[in-house]
Amino acid sequence: MVKKRILSGMRPTGKLHLGNFHGALMNWIELQNNDDYDCFYFVADWHALTSEYNNTGLIKENITDMVIDWFSTGLDPAKSTIFIQSSIEEHAELFLILSMITPLSWLERNPTYKEMKAELADRDLSTFGFLGYPVLQSADIIMYKANGVPVGVDQLPHIELTREIARRFNFLYKEVFPIPEPILTNVPKLLGIDGRKMSKSYENSIYLADRGDVLKSKVGAMFTDPQRKRRSDRGRPGLCNVFAFHQIYSPSGEVDEISTECKRAGIGCIDCKKRLASRISEKMEPVHERQDYYRSHLKEVEEIIAEGNKKAGNIARMTMEEVREAVRI
Ligand code: TRP
Ligand code: SF4
Repeated sequence: MVKKRILSGMRPTGKLHLGNFHGALMNWIELQNNDDYDCFYFVADWHALTSEYNNTGLIKENITDMVIDWFSTGLDPAKSTIFIQSSIEEHAELFLILSMITPLSWLERNPTYKEMKAELADRDLSTFGFLGYPVLQSADIIMYKANGVPVGVDQLPHIELTREIARRFNFLYKEVFPIPEPILTNVPKLLGIDGRKMSKSYENSIYLADRGDVLKSKVGAMFTDPQRKRRSDRGRPGLCNVFAFHQIYSPSGEVDEISTECKRAGIGCIDCKKRLASRISEKMEPVHERQDYYRSHLKEVEEIIAEGNKKAGNIARMTMEEVREAVRI
């Protein structure tokens, strides 16, 4: 049976938080562990440049931190091809060719472009590279002839553009590329400790690397049901972020108990959070052990990446031969 190709990437934001883990990475790991799929996961460091061109000093370190978290949570280089975008120069070549056939209007109407530009209003993002972000992303995806791309909803416009660009290439030159499908999965709604979306820039994140007192104090600071001000107030677990975390980290019997007790003010938020902190701690212990291992074996991390780069590079070279032949260049 021919396996379906799966491809996804992350910009190198450094250490991952629990939102990244439950939102994307866990999904990647599940796909990797399914025999029907052949998975490619990469660090989109050129994409980081589109918004961080002015501040590139941390990118390398961020790559290391991020891949250590990938490996520590179970992304397995023996099962998935794991590589760095900038190590495969073919991405730049395909990006260039795709940029020739991508109408500007497709890029200008991209909702993610408008949103990101508004969100990052503190920098000048009126650049060619930033507008072309989804063209580079398209190159990443079709280079490996991916059939499925696991992404969050925010990335759907980019996958739609990729599909349009791939169709246009196939129509103009030759049927080289399969049309990729987005793979959306249900992700639990986990907010940051201040109740907003968990995001590095909001400084409200719980990191995969957080442990001990750091973890306890972050969990202790989490917003709860806003109407539960006193210990004697009844709570509404359905409106409490701490409870959303319990649903992931605690066994179902305990989740039921907390729900019942919260609703009749039988448990206080301080105790509820203490229990959560120790549940997260328990679950993360093996992850932390692996993080420690890789931190002290950085050479091994480099070797794994070099191996992945080699595998990805071989495929990219083959695709580019087909592309050049199709374009007649
Ligand atoms: N744009 C994606 C993000 O911000 C990262 C990315 C770059 C990507 N290239 C990709 C995701 C290719 C999937 C496929 O999350
Ligand atoms: Fe949330 Fe737990 Fe407090 Fe209930 S007891 S409001 S679930 S923190």
